[in-house]
Amino acid sequence: MSQPRPAAVVVLAAGEGKRMRSTIPKVLQRIAGRSLLEHVLAAVAPLDARRQLVVVGHAREQVIAAVAGRAPAVSPVVQDDQRGTGHAVRAALRAVAGIQPDELVVVVPGDTPLLTGATMVALLAEHVRADASATVLTAELSDPTGYGRVIRGPSGDVRAIVEQSDADPVTAAIREINTGVYVFTAGPLVEALTSLTTDNAQGEEYLTDVIGVLFACRQAVAACPLDDPGEAFGVNDRVQLAAAGITMRDRIVTAAMRAGTTVVDPSTTWIDVDVVLEADTTLLPNTFLHGSTRVAAAAVVGPDCTLTDTVVGAGATVSRTTAADSVIGPDCVVGPYTHLRPGTHIGHGVKLGAFVETKSAQVADGAKVPHLAYVGDAVIGERSNIGCGTIFANYDGIAKHRTVIGMDVKIGSDTVLVAPVRVGDGAYTGAGSIITEDVRPGALAVREGRQRTIEGWVQRRRPGTAAARAATGDVAGEPGRTGTSASIAGMTGGGRL
Ligand code: UD1
Ligand code: CA
Repeated sequence: MSQPRPAAVVVLAAGEGKRMRSTIPKVLQRIAGRSLLEHVLAAVAPLDARRQLVVVGHAREQVIAAVAGRAPAVSPVVQDDQRGTGHAVRAALRAVAGIQPDELVVVVPGDTPLLTGATMVALLAEHVRADASATVLTAELSDPTGYGRVIRGPSGDVRAIVEQSDADPVTAAIREINTGVYVFTAGPLVEALTSLTTDNAQGEEYLTDVIGVLFACRQAVAACPLDDPGEAFGVNDRVQLAAAGITMRDRIVTAAMRAGTTVVDPSTTWIDVDVVLEADTTLLPNTFLHGSTRVAAAAVVGPDCTLTDTVVGAGATVSRTTAADSVIGPDCVVGPYTHLRPGTHIGHGVKLGAFVETKSAQVADGAKVPHLAYVGDAVIGERSNIGCGTIFANYDGIAKHRTVIGMDVKIGSDTVLVAPVRVGDGAYTGAGSIITEDVRPGALAVREGRQRTIEGWVQRRRPGTAAARAATGDVAGEPGRTGTSASIAGMTGGGRL
């Protein structure tokens, strides 16, 4: 039997989430690169419901904006006062016309990010198989504190859900809990919602009371226990947010390892849901892969890397590097201590070494920036070498300008390239040069201030200092005693410096 298409999924997200103590609404708090709400929407996506409704209330502008930005197929429904989960579902159903009584409505809380699509599909199938009016997703927990308890009759039939705050000790001892996830047949749901009261400990209209109402009307109610009770985990505070993040991290890292990624230290490897890893990649400890990052086969990333929306090519090695919005080509060697800022695009076999920062930089195949450099708004041609300490001075205080380096260029150490400027193919610059004018192909550009050496200056101007003594070989005031120069001479086999 093919899976029926629900008329609507209703995500409950109007509550304030006071216990987060945050200006950000609870459902917009993030783990593994997505908001809690986005995780829930991803779990219900395989149901392919005709409508996805998110009930918003508290901080609705923020939630509506987030939903509009990320998932255009979702419509917000405003619940002005948060008078309970039953009231929220009533508000949602009032907002949509044309749901037929025999159609299905799925309800999920917005704060259960660990739910999976497979579970949602199985729940829907169980509802159809059991021919029920309502099917509750339940979980058996060793500590059921805080959740609604599932009351079953002698034959195991579901009769009611009782909230923690309304439970007597016998009920509170029940370990099967309501996850807050349900499939309802629309007709009986709409009917039962009309008879909810606020006669309970919290003075709210409980959606959970629908179950008791349906049972009393002799409607069939089914329960579908979770294989993995951890999927029911609801996030109410930041301790639970971290716990959910860790569970999600474990799931993602485990899936990556099963799919062929070596993860040396799973507990310090954090991978967002949308990251793509090819088989035969290796992740070393303390690696954070965010957003749409992709890592190709045989690449090694880590230790200590944070890559955001970055592509790593096959066979590349990236260590102790922070990168964002960048593309690292195949067989590149990046790091340690390298910062790739947005718009960095390096080709095949490029080397970016220690203390190199790049931004809006295109570096062609085989080029090298081995150490200590700032490369901003730059194009570097194939096989060119950028000497240690080079600065691409791209900012004149008002605007940014580009530097274009040709192929097979050698930029001497400590060159300042004052943009806009071009260095032609095969050209050289001398060490310590400030390059303000274009350099033609094959030329050497040097800015020489000639070196001046004043002999005997230390003896005259810094008499009695260690330097003066060292210069005369008079170490620690003992004339004639040999010092470092002698030992260097010994090491190099040469005469005294
Ligand atoms: C609810 C269930 C409980 C279940 C638990 C699972 C009820 C009465 N209780 O309790 O049986 O074990 O979820 O996590 O349903 N919301 C609205 N509008 C409202 C009230 C709540 O949209 O007027 C939203 C909240 O933002 C939240 C969700 O509904 O996303 C659940 O509400 P919450 O107050 O967290 O219910 P629990 O006490 O956790
Ligand atoms: Ca909750």
